[in-house]
Amino acid sequence: MSKHIGILTSGGDCAGLNAVLRAAVIRAHALGFKITGLENGTAGLLESPPHVRELTPADITPGLLRQGGTILGTTNNRNPFSYPMPDGSVKDRSDELIAALNGLGIDILIGIGGDGSFDILSRLADQGKINFIGIPKTIDNDVAETEFSVGFDTAVSVAAEALDRLQPTAASHDRVMILEVMGRDAGHIALNAGIAGGADVILIPEIPYTINAIAQKIKAVKEAGRNFALVIVSEALQTLEGENREVVYYGGEKRYGGVGEYLGPRIAEATGFETRVTVLGHVQRGGQPTWNDRLIAQAFGVHAVDLAKAGKFGRMVGWAGRKVIDVPLSAVIAKPHVVDPASALVHTARALGISFGD
Ligand code: F6P
Repeated sequence: MSKHIGILTSGGDCAGLNAVLRAAVIRAHALGFKITGLENGTAGLLESPPHVRELTPADITPGLLRQGGTILGTTNNRNPFSYPMPDGSVKDRSDELIAALNGLGIDILIGIGGDGSFDILSRLADQGKINFIGIPKTIDNDVAETEFSVGFDTAVSVAAEALDRLQPTAASHDRVMILEVMGRDAGHIALNAGIAGGADVILIPEIPYTINAIAQKIKAVKEAGRNFALVIVSEALQTLEGENREVVYYGGEKRYGGVGEYLGPRIAEATGFETRVTVLGHVQRGGQPTWNDRLIAQAFGVHAVDLAKAGKFGRMVGWAGRKVIDVPLSAVIAKPHVVDPASALVHTARALGISFGD
């Protein structure tokens, strides 16, 4: 039987990753596995010597369950199949990585990541004949076949709290507040936080909008006697010209960002009301995980090790119908779960009078 688990966090971080690690370490030791933490996603394995550390019950510090970030570190821009080299070129370093895993005697890999990470890690595992199990995490909640990914609940809580904080200042100043949230190509954070935080308008990439429809809703709110309005917008919402707003970081990396600033003056012009824009950014990823994220994180960590014990590989753990489940990874990869415009939650929002700008 396989006896040595390597575990890593991959892609953008989120709250709850340390809770997953805690649970996996506790369960692995109870079931007689050695468990090694791989640092900075797969990137640490390409260092010489590899950046890894054995995880033991002594690593389960009292605060770990509550701690944001990941004690292992992570990256979202070091694909081993096209690894960015210092001279600007890219190189396939998958063989080096597999050799490092073999050198450490790791025969089971547990990857805590999103669908992009699962794609890379399961290709690696196939190539190196290593047993792989995935645990879904992402504030975007765009992983298929699971109701929740670790980190989503905390991100929604942060975004809803931001609306709570924007509402009084909006009312003091007769303003329309626009809150831009993350989520990549999926509008789940905006939809969930928008309903929970009492938004008047929710703008998501899955539902096309017009400025005119947004303006009509805001004017109707004001005509009904309210002096402010709240708009929440997903970062990947396109401009009216069909383009995404992006931020280009030093080194050339591009990320979504700026659609709130795009909308602000247009909504002001169309309504005659003053607008202000808040970009929530990475605040959604840090901080303590909510109880719900801690709960699913630990259920996922335990179940992933139980799968290893049962010799069930090529699977992702998930959450459905109030319990932890597992599904084939093939059903998850390359099938991002975005908002269904016909979903019950969209209906709830519409029934509450929330506009999607359509
Ligand atoms: O996938 C998680 C996420 O936070 C997205 O919502 C966002 O678009 C992206 O990562 C930001 O990436 P980075 O941390 O590299 O700026």
